Amino acid sequence: MKRFLTLALAVASVGFIAVGTASAVDTYNDGDAAAGIGNSRHNLGSLGEHITTTGSTGTTEICVFCHTPHHTNTTNNLKPLWNRGTSAPTSFTAYGTTLGGSTIVSGDVGSTSLACLSCHDGVTTFDNLLNTPGKSGVTATGSDRQWSFWDPAVNTTVSDFMTSGRLNIGLNLSNDHPVSVTYTEGVAGLRDKTTTIFAIDVAAELAASAATFDGGNLTKNLWAVKGYIDAGATIQDLLRDDKVECSSCHDPHFNNKSWNEIDGTYWSTTDLQEPENNGLFLRRVGGNSGSGLCRTCHNK
Ligand code: HEC
Ligand code: HEC
Ligand code: HEC
Ligand code: HEC
Repeated sequence: MKRFLTLALAVASVGFIAVGTASAVDTYNDGDAAAGIGNSRHNLGSLGEHITTTGSTGTTEICVFCHTPHHTNTTNNLKPLWNRGTSAPTSFTAYGTTLGGSTIVSGDVGSTSLACLSCHDGVTTFDNLLNTPGKSGVTATGSDRQWSFWDPAVNTTVSDFMTSGRLNIGLNLSNDHPVSVTYTEGVAGLRDKTTTIFAIDVAAELAASAATFDGGNLTKNLWAVKGYIDAGATIQDLLRDDKVECSSCHDPHFNNKSWNEIDGTYWSTTDLQEPENNGLFLRRVGGNSGSGLCRTCHNK
């Protein structure tokens, strides 16, 4: 395995020298922080650059839309330091039964998926908070703060809940990749949980051009875990209570600028937010090029 790691690094650096210019994927290396939320679509504070609170009613704070240091929401075992009201687990339609025989029922939806869905469910408002900034007080389990939101791209006030069809995952999770499902080795071609992610060769079997495609991002399989790009991470580090949740594949703070392939798809004449590309906040450097993200868990 060690030999492969050395080889992968060598290929990556040869690609870099041969191409001559640093592509976005080369800017993320082992040990770098998975940062950049301030300029991403996940900064809803008034100093953000996308959908933001308006100055008079909102706040410049960033983290408060999701976390607070005190008076957090712990219903349904919500974590970490969660500051939002969420839909109840039973409001969701779960995936059901997989080919591997796992059954996820309504009510199983776990903490970090409930967290994402507290904005991406299409019904909970962005400003449904428990502990508002400063002295405005605390409401147990959260309430709508009546703030308005502004979209600087179109210079107009926008809705305070998720309306974009693409980004609205909704209350029906039966048409999404299973979440809150236990990661069971031995079904669905899943690799051992102890597998070091960086050691998985996602360019194997692909055309030779995979070595240089999109800045050579298939020559290395680096993911962000625990806030850092980490060559030592294992699949276990992606699981929450041994399950796949939304945050197994996504890191909501990682403004991932390395998935060059999708940039061109991010344009819409009706939604001017779309040119902003956060790489869908995917944890994998290079996003899902060559289905590298899917093939990290599934040995297909
Ligand atoms: C859009 C919602 C959202 C915002 C805004 C947000 N976070 Fe988080 N944060 C989360 C979620 C969800 C998790 C759990 C992710 C997981 O399971 O890995 C988390 C986890 C964390 C963690 C622990 C895991 C890790 O990746 O380090 C820290 C520390 C953290 N957030 C700090 C912050 C700080 C500081 C800010 C403001 C600069 C912030 N967050 C803004 C949603 C958010
Ligand atoms: C505080 C509300 C909030 C929470 C919580 C939240 N999001 Fe978002 N998210 C947003 C908003 C607002 C946008 C941008 C909407 C727009 O531009 O129309 C967004 C955009 C996104 C995008 C699109 C980024 C891109 O590159 O196009 C993804 C993917 C995403 N969120 C995933 C997640 C995941 C996964 C979680 C949990 C780990 C999460 N979000 C938690 C509010 C939230
Ligand atoms: C198994 C990995 C995985 C899990 C689990 C996962 N996602 Fe994603 N998600 C992805 C990938 C890959 C994409 C990019 C799809 C594409 O190219 O359009 C994506 C895209 C998105 C988008 C943008 C939709 C689009 O197609 O443009 C949103 C919003 C999002 N995810 C939110 C969530 C939320 C909320 C959860 C939990 C309910 C979740 N994701 C769970 C892998 C995952
Ligand atoms: C973090 C690990 C992980 C990643 C990444 C991942 N999956 Fe999965 N996937 C799972 C688990 C766990 C299951 C549930 C297996 C079971 O218990 O039957 C699953 C199940 C599936 C299933 C079978 C569903 C069924 O009804 O039997 C398909 C299809 C699938 N994944 C496709 C994908 C695709 C496509 C991607 C990339 C967009 C992806 N997966 C990324 C872990 C992952």
